[in-house]
Amino acid sequence: MIRVVCFGLAMVFVMACEDPEPLPPTPEELARLMDPQTCGECHPAHLSEWAGSMHAYASEDPVFLAMNAKGQRETGGQLGSFCVQCHAPVAVRTGATTDGLNLAELPAAMKGVTCYACHAVSAVEGSHNNPLVFSDDGVMRGGFADAAENPVHASSYSNLHDRDHLASADLCGSCHDIVNPLGVHLEQTYKEWKDSLFSDPTNPDRSTCNRCHMPGRTDVIADYEGVSLRRHHDHRMPGVDVALTPFPDREGQRAAVQLSLDTTLSARLCVGWDGENTRLLVQMENMGAGHAWPSGAVQDRRAWIEIIGHEGDTLRFSTGQVADGEPMTNLKAEDPQMITFGATGYDAEGNVTHDFWDMVRTESDLMPSPIPHLRGIDTGENHRNYNLSFPGAVDRVEMRVRLRPMGLEILQELIDHEGLDPAVKAAMPTFDLGSTRLVWTPEAADQSGCVPALSR
Ligand code: HEC
Ligand code: HEC
Ligand code: HEC
Ligand code: HEC
Ligand code: HEC
Repeated sequence: MIRVVCFGLAMVFVMACEDPEPLPPTPEELARLMDPQTCGECHPAHLSEWAGSMHAYASEDPVFLAMNAKGQRETGGQLGSFCVQCHAPVAVRTGATTDGLNLAELPAAMKGVTCYACHAVSAVEGSHNNPLVFSDDGVMRGGFADAAENPVHASSYSNLHDRDHLASADLCGSCHDIVNPLGVHLEQTYKEWKDSLFSDPTNPDRSTCNRCHMPGRTDVIADYEGVSLRRHHDHRMPGVDVALTPFPDREGQRAAVQLSLDTTLSARLCVGWDGENTRLLVQMENMGAGHAWPSGAVQDRRAWIEIIGHEGDTLRFSTGQVADGEPMTNLKAEDPQMITFGATGYDAEGNVTHDFWDMVRTESDLMPSPIPHLRGIDTGENHRNYNLSFPGAVDRVEMRVRLRPMGLEILQELIDHEGLDPAVKAAMPTFDLGSTRLVWTPEAADQSGCVPALSR
């Protein structure tokens, strides 16, 4: 390609002259592009959605700050930028932090997974621990090939940002997959997705992270002259975690998490009587997630099934009946039939640890990623069946799957040893998954003794 560069006077004489290549942004211009507030001047809706998200909270989160501080102390600083490389990637890249211990003093623009952290990415060179390559060329990359011009940034189409390309999962996934410094593959959302049929290019039901986590609506995508209607993709990206301290749109995020959890699992409860014992069969399936459930920080998640049986007004049995404010793990020791999901980490001495820089091994029990009911084939591999038995008869059984984003005993450890504010622990929610709330009575059950009733 011939590059025609036009200089001042020459311009007058050269009639058909290509635009000169845009100059690389100056350091001042780059600093302005790294600030989400700049983006908000023309993309106010994107800014306000993002501002309440966990991406914005990632290096504000007091639990993150306390854990990183603990890790730095216990490893004598060896942890380095391991945690902040994902929780404040722009701060690491610009050298504003090396270990995350000074995050509180940094300008807001440096904190969290910012607009720039996703939109300046031009390549992904790995599958975990944030191998994203930034191009500091002033170009914002997105899913449109024909973005209108604006005076602040150039635009470019990128398949890493386009939901219709499996490559877009590499952008999200490489941060959503963690191998700890000891080589243990701790968080595997991306790997789980990769191993599922959602990533199979020949599967007509394949899907990417964006497709599920960034629902679209028709709108303008910039408040700027000359733009027309397009698809706006929601940047709230609710998952499981919510802000535990005052933060924008806290209630909105919490409601979005609830909504998303409400349709993730399907559940069925069957109750029978063998003359001595009430026998229960709980059937579960992961219907909604494009990976395991729970996923991500599974060593911190506490998910379990609560089941309570009554005869008349008398409580006959319960499992998983965890009181508010009580760690789920306390009950587990005395409740042998309790069904839980998540992972436990062990250190080199074989002791349970919550410090993920010390983990040499984890044991996990998760609902596997859904196998889309492909062309009518249901292999049954992703169903889970649990059989339970309790003495005595009942005429009413209630069940629900419950989830705490983080175990209360982990937070207590951080309160005791890192000075974490106890208010953070008090703010930790417990979600009930709507689709798993079932009430069994003989009248409500179908011929097989199950609810929801399939046939009556
Ligand atoms: C002066 C206004 C303005 C500012 C400030 C601005 N943008 Fe834009 N941006 C636009 C316009 C106009 C478009 C094109 C909209 C269209 O074509 O519908 C756009 C498009 C985009 C696209 C889509 C690109 C594509 O090809 O798919 C992304 C992504 C984007 N902007 C991100 C950002 C980010 C991140 C920031 C902050 C660093 C930012 N913008 C700041 C005006 C602006
Ligand atoms: C630069 C690394 C990075 C990239 C790229 C990234 N994320 Fe995240 N994401 C994070 C971090 C860090 C958090 C957790 C913040 C916290 O809770 O402290 C997070 C949180 C989330 C959550 C909420 C999880 C929870 O625990 O509630 C969802 C959902 C999510 N990201 C989806 C995505 C999607 C979809 C993409 C791609 C469009 C993406 N992420 C790209 C780092 C990243
Ligand atoms: C975690 C990564 C991530 C972060 C953080 C992020 N974006 Fe995006 N953004 C995306 C992805 C991915 C798309 C494209 C979605 C698609 O087309 O599948 C997108 C699309 C866009 C678009 C094009 C219109 C649309 O909705 O598709 C604009 C404009 C935009 N983002 C602006 C912003 C602004 C402004 C911020 C910060 C306030 C921001 N983004 C933060 C990942 C991110
Ligand atoms: C088929 C839809 C679908 C796809 C594809 C998908 N997800 Fe999810 N994801 C869900 C659902 C449903 C949940 C569970 C509900 C919730 O946590 O809000 C979830 C939960 C999550 C969570 C919170 C998990 C937890 O337990 O802490 C993260 C983080 C996440 N997804 C990231 C990703 C990433 C990264 C990708 C791509 C590699 C991806 N998702 C692909 C639907 C999907
Ligand atoms: C490869 C990127 C990456 C690295 C490295 C990383 N994180 Fe995260 N972190 C995430 C993502 C992504 C999430 C969102 C959780 C999910 O997947 O559900 C998260 C969530 C969290 C959360 C809130 C959610 C929870 O319940 O655990 C805390 C706290 C946290 N990380 C602490 C840390 C600490 C401390 C370190 C270093 C020892 C660290 N992280 C290293 C990406 C990373």
